[in-house]
Amino acid sequence: MSVIIAAIAGSLRAGSHSRALLRAAARDLPPDIRLVIWDGLEHVPPYSEDLEAGTAPAGVAVLRRLIAGAAAVLIVTPEYNGSIPGQLKNALDWASRPRGAAVLEGKPTAAISASPSPRGGSWALADLRKVLTVIGADLTGTELAVPQVHTQFTPGGRIADPALRDRITRLISDLAQRALAASPALAA
Ligand code: FNR
Repeated sequence: MSVIIAAIAGSLRAGSHSRALLRAAARDLPPDIRLVIWDGLEHVPPYSEDLEAGTAPAGVAVLRRLIAGAAAVLIVTPEYNGSIPGQLKNALDWASRPRGAAVLEGKPTAAISASPSPRGGSWALADLRKVLTVIGADLTGTELAVPQVHTQFTPGGRIADPALRDRITRLISDLAQRALAASPALAA
């Protein structure tokens, strides 16, 4: 049986390095761990408390179903002006409601930042950690800031540096272990 991890990239652009990192990581995982890479970020409308009482907007319902059905969540965020992109924060706000029954509460979750800069988007990573902590996600201790992300891929879309490849695979394996510890039935 596979551990299914919902994988969210915080960028909307087609050529996103953050999404490319998720695609590359998915190819290096053992067969019992599966990343489901979500492509619906642009369909999540701006959050409004006025919309909470009714049926969730379609894009939000898809996101909530994805997270609820996954054993864990992996987020790769770019850094925009020293923080996480607004569209990612907006999606996380939706996934944080309703308080007390939100899909992200208690969900094993890991965070990566990626940037063309030498800091690897470490400010965004710190902010992502803060937001996920406030939401009540079950954050893993391992996190990673990937510097010079635009140089990290082979022409075939794999992660070129074996050390980085191993770190990402280990981070995702730790996340899967945490999900298994939280729900032993997954291993059955
Ligand atoms: C950026 N970028 C950026 N990079 C960084 O390291 N720190 C920053 O504060 C910012 N700020 C920023 C603001 C805005 C509005 C944009 C559009 C870009 C550069 C950013 O890291 C780069 O474009 C990444 O490649 C974006 O991630 P994706 O789309 O490749 O996943």
